[in-house]
Amino acid sequence: MTYNSLALKITLMGSFYFCMAAFIVLTLVFNSVVFSNGGKTSIYVRKMEKTVDMPLESDVFRVPSGYNAPQQVHITQGDHVGKAVIVSWVTEDEPGSSTVLYWSENSKHKKKAEGQFTTYKFYNYTSGFIHHCTIGNLEHNTKYYYVVGVGHNMRKFWFTTPPKVGPDVPYTFGLIGDLGQTFDSNSTLTHYEQNPKKGQTVLFVGDLSYADNYPYHDNGRWDTWARFVERSAAYQPWIWTAGNHEIDFAPEIGETTPFKPYTHRYHVPYRASKSTAPLWYSIKRASAYIIVLSSYSAYGKYTPQNQWLEQELPKVNRRETPWLIVLMHSPWYNSYNYHYMEGETMRVMYEPWFVRYKVDVVFAGHVHAYERSERVSNIAYNIINGMCTPVKDQSAPVYITIGDGGNIEGLATSMSEPQPAYSAYREASFGHAIFDIKNRTHAHYSWHRNHDGFAVEADSMWFFNRFWHPVDESPTSQ
Ligand SMILES: [Fe+2]
Repeated sequence: MTYNSLALKITLMGSFYFCMAAFIVLTLVFNSVVFSNGGKTSIYVRKMEKTVDMPLESDVFRVPSGYNAPQQVHITQGDHVGKAVIVSWVTEDEPGSSTVLYWSENSKHKKKAEGQFTTYKFYNYTSGFIHHCTIGNLEHNTKYYYVVGVGHNMRKFWFTTPPKVGPDVPYTFGLIGDLGQTFDSNSTLTHYEQNPKKGQTVLFVGDLSYADNYPYHDNGRWDTWARFVERSAAYQPWIWTAGNHEIDFAPEIGETTPFKPYTHRYHVPYRASKSTAPLWYSIKRASAYIIVLSSYSAYGKYTPQNQWLEQELPKVNRRETPWLIVLMHSPWYNSYNYHYMEGETMRVMYEPWFVRYKVDVVFAGHVHAYERSERVSNIAYNIINGMCTPVKDQSAPVYITIGDGGNIEGLATSMSEPQPAYSAYREASFGHAIFDIKNRTHAHYSWHRNHDGFAVEADSMWFFNRFWHPVDESPTSQ
């Protein structure tokens, strides 16, 4: 054997052992996932208990004690830039006061804002007195205390306003969808509250109480749900998106006004973004521009939502708010065998705009599982060219389905096989996510399943901003 052939043999043997070692390491690293077309389908094994409602006598549903005590307290952003808050609550015995007393941690000088109350009937149900009060002219980045129930039994809460809108303002959003009021819902909310990343505002992607799953759309379930989430929603804003369980359209019992309970109970600052309906609107918060769309309102050409969105997208100034986030209920890219293609008509209408305006991320719910897409678009099709396959597109958003809040309908476990190339990661577990903006170029995203400890990231990725740093983030590109 010549020196050269010996060297070649050693090299080949070395390569063989290196390949074997690499194979073993890769097997160990990826033993929890199945690869298909480059995406990952988690085979994480979870206990498949039935999803069960918490009993009505559970402490999470407890009515606060005292005559006419305010209950179901929740807050949301009250203007376009984060200097106002809408405070909402319900009194059951009599209207009582719609006043909110509030003061900043620094000034201690109590101010007063006057709100209004409303009521509604739904079949055989009559609501309590639903109060909404906007408190404005708040200082940015300031802790405020507030009191509701003036004149009867007062209750005190607090919140912190966001920093002034600007391109490098860090901010941490929580993502929850399709929550409901089961033991799993409680687990999701607890995991969000205990997550050490400390979400500052919840972006809620629709389907709140699931009251319409009870006989005659038992609207008492809207009340129990709002009491359940008060422990978070009274202290930090929840940004609301309407889902199909908010429609409450029930002609069989004479209820023909869509979204009646939802729009009476959840006010949003839609007029501040020139919207004409509370089901689609936008806000700026810190370094994010958040657009909320309605999957269940008309969105075709010439409709109010379409006109609004067409005028809205050019207004987004990425030098002021680098992060463009869209919330909707029905996902456009979903590879589960549930609600498949329900988002398709809206995708056909709006996807070219999302690519043109370089939306960073779209969060949706509806499918009761978790999925994250690659950056893909499917906008080349024009009926005659046959080009209808999603392709990698660095101007396209990442699509995330986070409808895994834990509602009574249970998990979506059946997936289309093989996993489509557009699907980067999918798993049928309950959980929540965190979108943690660091600066104008980077945001860290993580998904947290309920079966793990509070700090565990079951899926994560670094987002590179599409305006300031539009390079490929996918692992295969690095
Ligand atoms: Fe839904």
